[in-house]
Amino acid sequence: MDLYTEAIERFRKLYTEAQQLDMPEPSAVSLASVDADGRPSVRTILLKGFDPRGFVFYTNKQSRKGRALKASGKAALCFLWQPLMQQVQVEGTAGDVSEAGADAYWATRIRLSQIGAWASEQSAVMPDKDALQRRFQEFEKQFAGKPVPRPPHWSGFRLKPESIEFWSSRPGRLHERERYMLKDGAWTHDWLYP
Ligand SMILES: Cc1cc2nc3c(=O)[nH]c(=O)nc-3n(C[C@H](O)[C@H](O)[C@H](O)COP(=O)(O)O)c2cc1C
Repeated sequence: MDLYTEAIERFRKLYTEAQQLDMPEPSAVSLASVDADGRPSVRTILLKGFDPRGFVFYTNKQSRKGRALKASGKAALCFLWQPLMQQVQVEGTAGDVSEAGADAYWATRIRLSQIGAWASEQSAVMPDKDALQRRFQEFEKQFAGKPVPRPPHWSGFRLKPESIEFWSSRPGRLHERERYMLKDGAWTHDWLYP
């Protein structure tokens, strides 16, 4: 098994373990981005899929993160599964998922969330507190009796890893850090001091 496949398979094993525990939202992960001015920001999102092509999440492409990811492509994820005392950090470049992939995931969302995606101008300032509710009602009316199409600004990103680090808790803070990293086109494996 090559090192990259090994890293992805390790992630799969841990993620499956986390999903089997009685833990809220094991798919919740911190997503860091950097905008065109180099300004970093971080927020929680939900991981919706992963495979050797990368880590997939969905959002409003006009949101703060959407604009930042489009501008720089640079992104990082940080998973913390506290009951396992495990952290996984993924760094890399985020690109668009396919239209077909976004449509397929959109179709699995409940109608309420689909209308919500139209109603929310994610990250923009609201004119007043009730603006979201008003917009929700407008779109509910607009799509009454019809399927809700995917908004053009709502889609997914796939973060293609350039580095994946596994952190495991050990007694005496002698924690284990293992980093798989793409260097000059080849995946490498290193142990890091904790
Ligand atoms: C548990 C949790 C899961 C979330 N999942 C998503 C998600 O999958 N996609 C998304 O766009 N926002 C999600 N959010 C909201 C984001 O954290 C954030 O508030 C929003 O995307 C706007 O971020 P931005 O202004 O930096 O673009 C989630 C928040 C929480 C607390």
